[in-house]
Amino acid sequence: MSMVDVIARKRDGGELTAAEINSFIRDYTAGTIPDYQAAALLMAIYLRGMNRRETVDLTLAMANSGDMLDLHDVAPFIVDKHSSGGVGDKTSLAVLPLVAAVGVPVGKMSGRGLGSSGGTLDKMESFDGWSWALSLDQFKRQLRDIGLVLAGQTNVLAPADGKLYALRDVTATVDNGSLIAASIMSKKLAAGADAIVLDVKTGSGAFMPTVEAAMELAQLMVDIGEDAGRHVVALISDMNQPLGHAVGNALEVREAIDTLRGGGPEDFWEHCRVVAGYMVLLAGKAATLAEAEAMIAAARADGRGLAKFRELVVAQGGDPRQVDDPDRLPKARYVEPIEATRTGYISAMDTAELGWVCVRCGGGRMVKSDKIAPGVGFILPVKIGDHIEAGQEIGQIHADDDMTLQQAQRDIPAAITVSDTPVSPLPLFYATIIGKSGKGQ
Ligand code: URA
Repeated sequence: MSMVDVIARKRDGGELTAAEINSFIRDYTAGTIPDYQAAALLMAIYLRGMNRRETVDLTLAMANSGDMLDLHDVAPFIVDKHSSGGVGDKTSLAVLPLVAAVGVPVGKMSGRGLGSSGGTLDKMESFDGWSWALSLDQFKRQLRDIGLVLAGQTNVLAPADGKLYALRDVTATVDNGSLIAASIMSKKLAAGADAIVLDVKTGSGAFMPTVEAAMELAQLMVDIGEDAGRHVVALISDMNQPLGHAVGNALEVREAIDTLRGGGPEDFWEHCRVVAGYMVLLAGKAATLAEAEAMIAAARADGRGLAKFRELVVAQGGDPRQVDDPDRLPKARYVEPIEATRTGYISAMDTAELGWVCVRCGGGRMVKSDKIAPGVGFILPVKIGDHIEAGQEIGQIHADDDMTLQQAQRDIPAAITVSDTPVSPLPLFYATIIGKSGKGQ
């Protein structure tokens, strides 16, 4: 196969065959296709799109680029979740231990930050010594022993996604439905979960800006999963403002720990309860969503969720003292207020821009080799619909240097639109898509 021909055909709006997609994924994973040709093909796909058949072929090729786990020798039924990416989206950190704590085994493969959105692995690396790189044996042993695993792509599981994900992050090729669907579903299929809850974000901080686009992506992923024999539910959730209050790796870990301790922001907890509830429902541990949510709330109230999170940190080499005392997590050098620039009701937020503020402070990557500054980010407790006064402290910025600090103090209020007339708060969820198996109804 000539890579130049394949790039040129997609550039000109043509279709790629299954054989071409398979060769591209095989050779790029093996390292015989250079990043510059892969980046050119990604950009051609981004601009010209892929049809459904090409997207399914890409997903399956990426899923098969490493081992396809069968975990049934260590757990009878495994659930997983995945978010399409958002700002302040630390859902996995709270949801996974709560679900595992009620006796539903969770084996999850997560990603790093992507574009303006944060990544679970970067957040968990706030713990000294914590590692996402698990061998197949380690993955299985941990799933059997504690019922909870949080791994990253290695050369064992969906390695093609690991490489393409990092390349998309720095080549402006993230927000394309086919590439997102293939990235998410290849990981989910390879990691061997029987049931998957997809948290598909929509809004100004999501890769899918409209509810319609998010629903189309969600339906495609649900269909791919169900065709592969998995039970899938997709929730369309709001990302027109950051989820919770904290944005930034260690700050988000702190907020997740607060939430597992019974505190934390109300919107974040409510979001987590629903996502976790669907995971428990899909696993057949509850007859209704209400019953599943009550089980999750109980595991939070009696500390089982927090204890499970601590076990996860310890099992993957992290320092449990940072769970017990989050003051031990990495901190930024400076903490300064963010002030509102005008009086009125918050009517909109440019949430992607808020995510980029965090990236520019060092909380994400501009190029693949960038090292993350775990302590930086911001706390923004105000929400759409809130009334604020000019000069009011509406949050705090955590930065490691003067320049990014001052930039963020300017950029965050600029990303918030204020209106003179009252504005209604936003819903947390817009729709639910249930797979054809009907599980999760
Ligand atoms: N999450 C992923 O794993 N991949 C994407 O492309 C977007 C979000």
